[in-house]
Amino acid sequence: MAVPDRSAPPKGPPRVLRGALVWLRADPFLTDPAEALVHVPDGAVVCRDGLIEAVGDWADLKGRLPDGAAVTHYPDALITPGFIDCHVHYVQTEMIAAFGSQLLDWLERHAFPAEQAFADPAHAAMVAKVFCDELVRNGTTTALVFCSSHPQSVEALFAEALSRDMRLIAGKTMMDRNAPDGLRDTAQGSYDDSKALLERWHGRGRLGYAITPRFAGSSTPEQLALAGALWSERPDVHVHSHISENLEEIAWIKNLYPERSGYLDVYDHAGLVGPRALFAHGVHLSEGEFCRCHETGAALAHCPTSNMFLGSGQFRVFDAKRSDRPVHVGLGTDIGAGTSFSILATMGEAYKAAQLNKTSLDAVKALYLATLGGARALGLEDRIGAIKAGNEADLVVLDPKATPLLKFRTERARSIEELLFVLMTLGDDRVVRETWIAGAKA
Ligand code: GUN
Ligand code: ZN
Repeated sequence: MAVPDRSAPPKGPPRVLRGALVWLRADPFLTDPAEALVHVPDGAVVCRDGLIEAVGDWADLKGRLPDGAAVTHYPDALITPGFIDCHVHYVQTEMIAAFGSQLLDWLERHAFPAEQAFADPAHAAMVAKVFCDELVRNGTTTALVFCSSHPQSVEALFAEALSRDMRLIAGKTMMDRNAPDGLRDTAQGSYDDSKALLERWHGRGRLGYAITPRFAGSSTPEQLALAGALWSERPDVHVHSHISENLEEIAWIKNLYPERSGYLDVYDHAGLVGPRALFAHGVHLSEGEFCRCHETGAALAHCPTSNMFLGSGQFRVFDAKRSDRPVHVGLGTDIGAGTSFSILATMGEAYKAAQLNKTSLDAVKALYLATLGGARALGLEDRIGAIKAGNEADLVVLDPKATPLLKFRTERARSIEELLFVLMTLGDDRVVRETWIAGAKA
């Protein structure tokens, strides 16, 4: 397939966004949230060549802007870092909102049939476009994405993301058992395909490759071992999989791998646990498994809309983030088991999941998970997740008055924390006024 190369970031005068700025400079699970949150009521972000060149008070920066700087003023808006979706399946976009079952049955009845269609590159290209449009409409500027087991599904997504200069990490799903014809690969074939895709795409534009064994249930030990071997050859790429989502699934994994001490140990034994490995869900992880994630730097994606929709249970976010052994956690929409592309809506559902665990997730912690926490989970803190000079200029402009109810409610917010909480509870794509990708309005 002919792939257009990344367009050069715009040169010339910087683009300046003026408005209220909000971002995290530290982890509010581990430090005072008031200290961790940065709020600049009338701020400016200077973007040039895809990066943030300067950030601060408008009053300080306005006299120092070069001639011809293009300033856009958003007097009533809130500017935050672009949202980070740490776990999503683009190949399930068309079957979001499928009625009536829990994980294992849902996979067979809904997810696998939808994914079989990605053998067709034209179908893959069509869905990749819809998917990237949805990311942008929802203010998501970085995503870690499952494709299908067809290499052409990866080609289509990377080509689409490259043409938009998005920071996107994705990979071919590896699944050599317990999967239907048309999706099932082989251990060696999946290694070869993954390696070829990695070599073709990793590091191109802002793209990254993730070695993507679907989950222990659909991989033989041989396939997981080869995935681990590929990671040891290329430790600069990510690993992306699922873990401990559903109790029936966990009992099944125990039967499939009786020699392993638990679900995480299946991946650990294959050399798939470490920094830049991210596992979705972790709803039922044990204390020992949280400790092992902490020790190795492996991260988890909290996917509350999916966990609620499939009746999987509630992730214990405060347990995962316990200060004596904190685990890196980001948020995932997990489309199509998840029910919204909106990371704002996902933050709101994370609050409800925490409530069901008798804990309360404040808006500062939720925004952390959606931005800097996600960046740290992906090992990309030096590039994304905060409005910081030198970072990539991925930003969202939020409109707190996007609907009559939001206007009525947010006008009554007495603090930035309260305003953020209202936005995550009532907000979704309607609140996203603009999404900026690498310093350009998308
Ligand atoms: N576990 C293995 N595959 C999947 C999937 O596609 N979605 C979810 N939610 N869990 C999984
Ligand atoms: Zn998933």
